Amino acid sequence: MEIITTLEAVKARCKELKKQGKTIALVPTMGYLHEGHLSLIGKARELADIVVVSRFVNPTQFAPNEDLDAYPNDPNHDRNVTEKAGTDILFEPLASAMYAEDHGTWVEVPELAKVLCGVTRPIHFRGVCTVVTKLFNLIHPDFACFGEKDYQQLTIIRRMVRDLNVDVEIVGCPLVREEDGLAMSSRNAYLTKEERALVPHIRKGLLLLAEKAKQGETSAKNLQNFFAEYIKENIPAARIDYCSMVDKDNLESLETLKDKAVIAVAVYVGKARLLDNILISK
Ligand code: PAF
Repeated sequence: MEIITTLEAVKARCKELKKQGKTIALVPTMGYLHEGHLSLIGKARELADIVVVSRFVNPTQFAPNEDLDAYPNDPNHDRNVTEKAGTDILFEPLASAMYAEDHGTWVEVPELAKVLCGVTRPIHFRGVCTVVTKLFNLIHPDFACFGEKDYQQLTIIRRMVRDLNVDVEIVGCPLVREEDGLAMSSRNAYLTKEERALVPHIRKGLLLLAEKAKQGETSAKNLQNFFAEYIKENIPAARIDYCSMVDKDNLESLETLKDKAVIAVAVYVGKARLLDNILISK
């Protein structure tokens, strides 16, 4: 595995590989890799000749009051597991190289970014879209793999690529869970032992909502109330940021379930803000 740290070098190397007729799949990450990331790398491996993983904690997607400085980091672990998973190039740029001091250009998908996570994290998706665009411009991947855990992120990136005619295929990959159902996330590292024991109830609550929908419950309000009650009972210290029923393609809020919908949740537990989602149908 090659480790590349400069923008010039990754650009030149990827250009050379493309000239040789190789296809490239990119897996953008912020490091502290877990099985979920490894499944993205596995998918990338199936799709293309060359797998590039980027490892960059992108400062522009964090608001000043968020966890940029505390974001978990373990470069040696990441290098080991990316190599074992079959990565060809690990790209680890410096923030000062990715962003000029007077950086002033942003990529935004405002309609999709103002709902769900965007309500409490208004600049987050602008930062994500901007850094992902920069990675696409440096690497020119044929494919880019993103996890369905960050359902809103995946939807926004698909829209951005469509709207701007970016020549890359966005590949959404299934959410990977711990054995007890907790969605894998680097931020699970913030949980205490006691909190960790309770958080699988987020998934259990969502499964109960899917069951309720199958039994004929179509009201988003009723489903939300049910989830709130369930979480209050089972994770008393948790605070629900949102529990929303949305259209699976455009994230439009739905009051009534017609056919299929996504229920997306964000729940604060201690220092962690945990995301999960489920596709429900009648
Ligand atoms: O999902 C993430 O880890 C990040 O938002 C991403 C896509 C790597 C951009 O920084």
